[in-house]
Amino acid sequence: MSGHQTTNSASISKTLNWRCKNCGEYESMTFDIPDILAKYDFPQPRLCTKCERAEIEAANRRTRRDQLETLADQAAIPQTFRRFDAARGNVGLRQRCIDSAAGSMWIYGARGRGKTLAACQAAMDELEIGTASVRFARIVDIASTLTDRERSPYLMRELLAFRVLILDDFAAARVSDALGQRLYALIDAVYNSKTQRRVWITSDVAADAIAARFDDANCAGRIIGRFKRMVSDGRMAVISADGAEWAGSHGKR
Ligand SMILES: Nc1ncnc2c1ncn2[C@@H]1O[C@H](COP(=O)(O)OP(=O)(O)OP(=O)(O)O)[C@@H](O)[C@H]1O
Ligand SMILES: [Mg+2]
Ligand SMILES: [Zn+2]
Repeated sequence: MSGHQTTNSASISKTLNWRCKNCGEYESMTFDIPDILAKYDFPQPRLCTKCERAEIEAANRRTRRDQLETLADQAAIPQTFRRFDAARGNVGLRQRCIDSAAGSMWIYGARGRGKTLAACQAAMDELEIGTASVRFARIVDIASTLTDRERSPYLMRELLAFRVLILDDFAAARVSDALGQRLYALIDAVYNSKTQRRVWITSDVAADAIAARFDDANCAGRIIGRFKRMVSDGRMAVISADGAEWAGSHGKR
């Protein structure tokens, strides 16, 4: 347009000069306006283009961070596992879990190896991308509700409403017959899922070794059988936090 006459009204060039309230840089902007607005005082911009863009981006980042925190709250992910500090190590395990997040996972290894952290970090990654809903549950925390005749159906339904179910410290304590049945039902629901339902499990032992902790050995056998099928179908990754190979018959790294 550059100040030329348009169809009906004449336009004039107007220039604004201002100083950025943030960085102090001077900026000017020239634009065409219809000449009837020539006397109108345009408001001075507060910031330069660069600072304004940075301010908008910072606000967007804050919004995204708030949204992620809300999702993490809904997922019941403990605060300590939401943030990762590469300087504290466990970088490889975290990445391995993020890379395997499209399927189920059996994450095992000695205490304090960062297994729960890695699972939760994979969950944070999913929540950030917005691909899946997640629910974190420590077995010892849900065991009594899960085996309570009244409350169990509600908790089962709730746990299975999420795409990703994190079962933390699987079979860490003795598994009663009643708890074993509920755990089998959860695993079986994931196994039979037509949607991309996944279960991410942390344990201090390999899947084969959980049998010794079940009161009902048959129940343990059925659960292990489901895991083995998922592993051989390529739907479950077996991830050692100790860096050792999995001893199970379908073991793959
Ligand atoms: N890179 C890291 N960034 C932040 N925290 C870390 C990091 N590495 C380890 N930690 C912390 O170390 C502790 C141990 O990690 P975590 O609880 O995930 O281990 P674990 O293998 O699940 O142990 P357990 O078998 O006892 O459940 C946690 O408090 C975790 O937050
Ligand atoms: Mg843990
Ligand atoms: Zn500026």
